[in-house]
Amino acid sequence: MALRRFDIEAGGDSFAFLPETEPTIAFWLAKYPDDKKRSGVIPLLWLAQKDNAGWLSEPAMREVADRLEMPYIRVYEVATFYTMFRLQPVGKHHIQLCGTTPCMLRGANDLKTVCEAKIGPKMHVTDDGRLSWEEVECLGACVNAPMVQINDYYYEDLTPDSLTEILAKLQNGADVKPGTFIDRLNSAPEGGAKSLVEAELYDGSRSKAVKTLPNLPSDAPAPAEPKTPAPAKKTLIETTKPAATGEKPEALKVAAGEEDDLKRIKGIGPVNETALNALGFYKFSQVAAWTPVNIAWVENELSFPGRVEREDWIAQAKTLAAGEETAFSKRVDAGEVESSKDEGED
Ligand code: FES
Repeated sequence: MALRRFDIEAGGDSFAFLPETEPTIAFWLAKYPDDKKRSGVIPLLWLAQKDNAGWLSEPAMREVADRLEMPYIRVYEVATFYTMFRLQPVGKHHIQLCGTTPCMLRGANDLKTVCEAKIGPKMHVTDDGRLSWEEVECLGACVNAPMVQINDYYYEDLTPDSLTEILAKLQNGADVKPGTFIDRLNSAPEGGAKSLVEAELYDGSRSKAVKTLPNLPSDAPAPAEPKTPAPAKKTLIETTKPAATGEKPEALKVAAGEEDDLKRIKGIGPVNETALNALGFYKFSQVAAWTPVNIAWVENELSFPGRVEREDWIAQAKTLAAGEETAFSKRVDAGEVESSKDEGED
């Protein structure tokens, strides 16, 4: 940021707001509580700048500070920070020339050359006091670049010729209407609209073709819902068990106490043992004899496809049926497998 100093000499000793500005000052101060009126420092500085021929003298800043009961230094800080406040005299028509990229790409440098030629260096005031200029950052009218702001108004789509003409008119005391300087409406394409130009878009004829709006409520009774047969309810067993497959292994009836402890097969806990018993499977020898189609049937019945093979029930059952032990059965016998204990068993 450039160092900004105010012009002590040019400001004289005193400043007073114009009487017609007082209602505007009152308007701004009414926005803030009495103990927060310093919040109005920017609007009041802006009004002071307007009443002081477009720039802020040191007495004008002091007047604002007095009105807001602020230390002078606080007002100086604000005034020297914001470039919207000018700290030295300007011409009656002060030109702020945008030099930011969009305007620069569209010819702002050529406009700068015009200002330098017609007015002089930045912030120089012409001898007649009518013109001065400075370069500023984007003024938010990039679509109409290049552009300048003169006092409160924008002059857009400029060329060196059009700016030269504007400056000449202002210097001669003539008014110049602000806005665009090419054949366009606001920010519309030069020469007029290039799209959406069909007359029927605007004469109402297209809307006649629209018979109804998609969601327009209708007085007509709603069409009956087509009746579709309700899907058959699935029973729990149908949803959890695939269709019957395989071949049921031979089932047995054994006297109480003659059944084997199928929980000594890794993968068979109390729940599966009960289910297997209910199907007539009590003995290791029965499980050891299951063929692949028997296994498919059992897995289908118990709804655990692939588990018999994955957990190697058949090999375990063969070992146990032969009166031998598996590492798992030893652990079960030692009471180390919680999941193999019957309910209530320690
Ligand atoms: S760059 Fe010039 S107005 Fe935005």
